[in-house]
Amino acid sequence: MDDHAQAPRPPLRALAERCHFAIGAAVATQPLLNGEPDYCALLAREFNVLVAENMMKWDALSPAPEQYDWTASDALVAFAAKHAQRLRGHTLVWHNQLPAWLRDRSLSRTEALRLLETHIKTVVGRYRGQVWAWDVVNEAIDDSGDYRRTSFWFRHLGPDYIALAFQWAHEADPDALLYYNDYSAEGISPKSDAIYRLVRDLKAQGVPIHGVGWQMHLIEGWRLEDQHLRNAERLRALGLELSITELDVRLTLPPSPAQLDGQAESYRQALSFALDHCRALLTWGFSDRYSWIPSFQPGTGAALPFDEAYAPKPAYHALWQTLAARAGQLHA
Ligand code: G3I
Repeated sequence: MDDHAQAPRPPLRALAERCHFAIGAAVATQPLLNGEPDYCALLAREFNVLVAENMMKWDALSPAPEQYDWTASDALVAFAAKHAQRLRGHTLVWHNQLPAWLRDRSLSRTEALRLLETHIKTVVGRYRGQVWAWDVVNEAIDDSGDYRRTSFWFRHLGPDYIALAFQWAHEADPDALLYYNDYSAEGISPKSDAIYRLVRDLKAQGVPIHGVGWQMHLIEGWRLEDQHLRNAERLRALGLELSITELDVRLTLPPSPAQLDGQAESYRQALSFALDHCRALLTWGFSDRYSWIPSFQPGTGAALPFDEAYAPKPAYHALWQTLAARAGQLHA
């Protein structure tokens, strides 16, 4: 890991801890299970909170009806415990990455309720006391600002499943922070208005919800705007916390030095905002070697703070400098 040796010291997590802040990354299944040395060393060194990119999704956990394979998720939980890292759990209720045995089956409302309750209580219960925050419900609102009416859970249960999911998660681990998580809803828009109304109503009904996750899968050129502050303020006024849960900033490939500098500025502004308004900031992966972007958004990539050889990019230095400056102010 010669290139990595050029990274400034101390690591991000040490600076973040001085700011009482959680800085983290999503963990890919294969490099963790294979114990890829550079991958694991950087993961342990730089971050004080981790999240499973795929390991805790329903299809990854449950290959057959009501059977669970905990191999990968247990490995992540053990890794985090060994390195004194918090964990975010992702995700209990989503319309994607459902196992085929569930997705392709015809279900009555009663069966769907029973399966969902059992799944949530099984997974949250297994990791009770070990998962700091759960993304209980992921992406329930359509970009238009309506519920995703065609999604699996809405079709079977209508909107009721959202409150029930939070309640069941809370019963399984009363100390875990419970989040609603979504993308493209950081500014003010029909979608973020709908999310605001959803979480406001859940709070008003006494549903145990504690936070909203902003995924923040960004495109190059993203800059913080007043609308982000206004949205954060209205959510926090409900008594909810915020976290940036899946940050990445994709570039058209191959990126020029100017693009990498522009990307670093996006990271800097996102972290600076998060230090004022959020509990945590996690990137969706940390090295361009393992990122969902190139296969989902062909022609783009290079979205993360470390390159494919684990060398720190300008985005990493921007994160480091932002944390160092804040830590210095706090301890001046
Ligand atoms: O598990 C199979 C494996 O058995 C098979 O050999 C392999 C062949 O392609 O596919 C594997 O499944 C892939 C899975 O990732 C695990 O690697 C799926 O094809 C692939 O579609 C899946 O993509 C994930 C995607 O969610 C699915 O929607 C990405 O890795 C993951 O980064 C992405 O994460 C989501 C968040 O959960 C929610 N927010 C958006 C974010 C980005 O889309």
